[in-house]
Amino acid sequence: MNKKLRFAVVGLGHGVEHVEAIMGNPREELVLCCDLNEETFRKANLPPEVQFTTSMQEVAERTDIDAVAIALPTHLHADSAIMMLNAGKHVLCEKPLAPTLEEGLRIKEAVEKSGKVFQLGYEVRYSPFNQKVLQICKSGEIGEVTNVWWNMFCEHTNNGWRSSRKNRGGKIFDCACHYYDILQAWAGAPAKRIFAFGNLLGKIGPTADEIPETAIVIFEYENGVRGVFNLSDKCICRQSSTCGVAATNGKIEADPYYPDQLGSMDVHANGGEFQYHIDIKNVSNKRALHLGAREQHEAFANSVLNGAKVEVNVDTGIQLIKILDALDESLATGKVVEIN
Ligand SMILES: NC(=O)c1ccc[n+]([C@@H]2O[C@H](COP(=O)([O-])OP(=O)(O)OC[C@H]3O[C@@H](n4cnc5c(N)ncnc54)[C@H](O)[C@@H]3O)[C@@H](O)[C@H]2O)c1
Repeated sequence: MNKKLRFAVVGLGHGVEHVEAIMGNPREELVLCCDLNEETFRKANLPPEVQFTTSMQEVAERTDIDAVAIALPTHLHADSAIMMLNAGKHVLCEKPLAPTLEEGLRIKEAVEKSGKVFQLGYEVRYSPFNQKVLQICKSGEIGEVTNVWWNMFCEHTNNGWRSSRKNRGGKIFDCACHYYDILQAWAGAPAKRIFAFGNLLGKIGPTADEIPETAIVIFEYENGVRGVFNLSDKCICRQSSTCGVAATNGKIEADPYYPDQLGSMDVHANGGEFQYHIDIKNVSNKRALHLGAREQHEAFANSVLNGAKVEVNVDTGIQLIKILDALDESLATGKVVEIN
């Protein structure tokens, strides 16, 4: 294969983060962009050698494309990913994998049939912030992990495809799935049971079609660790998250986006005493992309060019669909739901 991975990006909403990550990666080359709306391409103001098409079929048929980053609305992931895999492309597909388990399993079948690299865009996993928290948890310096949490308070309106719960729209599904992924990594085991309260402002509980604006989601992991995700998307402030890990010999209290969108944390150990503070630094000195965007492209290039194992693979995506399905069911029924 060509030493550089020749990329197409499909969907130029969040897809522009892939565009930047590819253009900043010496082992990747941006050849083609695809969007139904040409204006999105003009606005991205890309170098003249980057080509544009409105046809996904053309992306699949182009023999000078090795890999495709799919950043289409979630309900379009299955058909587009399967089209690209069947055409022999490696695929980096945005999260969540698909809105339904059935579609997720269709993608899994195509991945296995194609033998191509398929990585999911759970990019926060790859971020230096998450790697640091994981490293501290695994080192044993704060003892045995007992609780994990993430608070997310922001102002957000769901429109377009995101206004549909069936499409897995809304912060509680579309965005928070990153943090459900991270929390179980910190817990050290997959989620086993889930319970969620959610509501719209001024109402007790959403109907099955409504996306909750505030919610508390409670997890129990297979190793007995407990987790909480606490959401308001009606809080008038910049996106503000705090998160952390409690353990038998200390804790980590962290802000994943401050300073500079890179994250920081206070580490308490030795019986709970404050030990040190870490600010994650931008080693490359380039604009910080969305948490982990640059690193997920490095991992992807490593898998395609050097055969490295894909960490966030199609099975990860399927397990996270099961979490979102269980969350959906718990919100609708008010019951604790097992994750199989
Ligand atoms: N990793 C992250 O942190 C992150 C952040 C935001 C969005 N996402 C994910 O990225 C995906 C896209 O989200 P978004 O916010 O960019 O949505 P969006 O609606 O803002 O953008 C989607 C783009 O796809 C284009 N499009 C739609 N149908 C198309 C088709 N058939 N062919 C070509 N182009 C088409 C639209 O014109 C639009 O420009 C979703 O799965 C979302 O969950 C991930």
